[in-house]
Amino acid sequence: MPAFKTVRGMRDFLPEEANMLKFIENKARRVAELYGYKEVVTPVVESYELLAAKAGEEVRSRMFVFKDLGGRDIALRPEFTASVARLVATTLRTEPKPLRLFSFGTVYRYDEPQKGRYREFWQSNYELMGSNKPEGDAEILMLTDSLMEASGLKKYVFKVGHVGVLRGIFVQEGLEDTVQNVVMQRMDKKEYEVALKMVRDAGVSENCVNILQKLVKIKGSEIFEIVEKMKTVVKGYDKAVSAVENLNAILKLIVESGCKMDVVVDAGFARGLEYYTGMIFEVYVPEFDIALGGGGRYDQLIELFGGEPTPAVGVAHGIDRIMLALQMQKAEIETREKSVMVIPIKEELKGEALKVSRLLREADIPAEVEVMGRKVTAALEDANRRRMSYAIIVGEKELKENAVAIRNLAKREQKIVKIEKLVETIKGQNV
Ligand code: HAM
Repeated sequence: MPAFKTVRGMRDFLPEEANMLKFIENKARRVAELYGYKEVVTPVVESYELLAAKAGEEVRSRMFVFKDLGGRDIALRPEFTASVARLVATTLRTEPKPLRLFSFGTVYRYDEPQKGRYREFWQSNYELMGSNKPEGDAEILMLTDSLMEASGLKKYVFKVGHVGVLRGIFVQEGLEDTVQNVVMQRMDKKEYEVALKMVRDAGVSENCVNILQKLVKIKGSEIFEIVEKMKTVVKGYDKAVSAVENLNAILKLIVESGCKMDVVVDAGFARGLEYYTGMIFEVYVPEFDIALGGGGRYDQLIELFGGEPTPAVGVAHGIDRIMLALQMQKAEIETREKSVMVIPIKEELKGEALKVSRLLREADIPAEVEVMGRKVTAALEDANRRRMSYAIIVGEKELKENAVAIRNLAKREQKIVKIEKLVETIKGQNV
């Protein structure tokens, strides 16, 4: 047999990484709870047609597509939004709005593997269905800020734009949807020259080309000044003006909420996915030029899937990239498992050590007993290496007083505690 490896683009998570993944997952779940998002679990495999409908060329061409044994065209989900929109268009059709839905799991894209780019990766996904109001968009931005902060990231920036600005101009210029989509794909890749050429070739006015040239250069962190500039530049294109006003309203709400997120407004910003109709955004850290999360407003997808007209806005966070960013920012995150190592000081105390471990487990505290016959120092080193929280050292002298020594492995502090107080001490983290 050959020495097997994981398939290209796929990874194993060893305990330490799996632990970090769980840590962020827990934060994502807590954010869902705090903002009122209920979890839905949808299948990893969906019909190709559903997933491809509005994914955009970039994502569409990178889907894992195959035929099942029944000859159906199916694919591994490259994201959650299409699945959640399907649910809202069908089973959840009559559910009162707003509907706030959360998902967490793996998604698949045939991307070129490199740092931060994998073929199987994890997303936490939040969709707010039924509201077309700027407070909905603000909520999705704030929720993303909450998750980034709760994960322990020190510095991150939101890049915010609005699809309605460019699309508003294109519509007024009579540019067909298909052409608009290709142009937006180019914009997403920052190939502005190519995009402009396409627009010009499609026969738009010279005024339009001028405006687009100016727009793609407008960006900065003085957000309300930038928005004013955008408004001046797009004058005469009514839909684009309303889009800028909508962006202004969203940003104003963020400021009024007191949320101190760093925002850069970028007028030439586009995203690869084709369903967006309004505000779009991505989150970046200085260490990385790829996004840690992205989302935006998509008001037509649910109707396209046969549902009621339902405005919607959402976001997905790239958990693998958040993990990488945390490592690069050397963020101090507590991923120590709340677990205890029980170490008898000598042979004759093994039974006592087992007894203490039973007491802990009965109180719902994970406990392992030293089973390799190692000396206390070696066993302590091992527990520390494995990032356990506490060690309990069972010694003769202390036992006579019905006590044991408990050591906080992170703080390297130790004290003697009566066995009857042990559970209370660990649960209350009084050491
Ligand atoms: P997206 O921007 O395609 O949006 O993906 C969201 C996040 O997934 C990215 O910002 C990135 O962190 C992560 N990601 C994407 N590709 C990879 C990869 N190859 N390896 C690791 N991480 C990756 C969406 O998926 C939309 N469904 C977001 C949304 C929800 N819009 C509205 N609702």
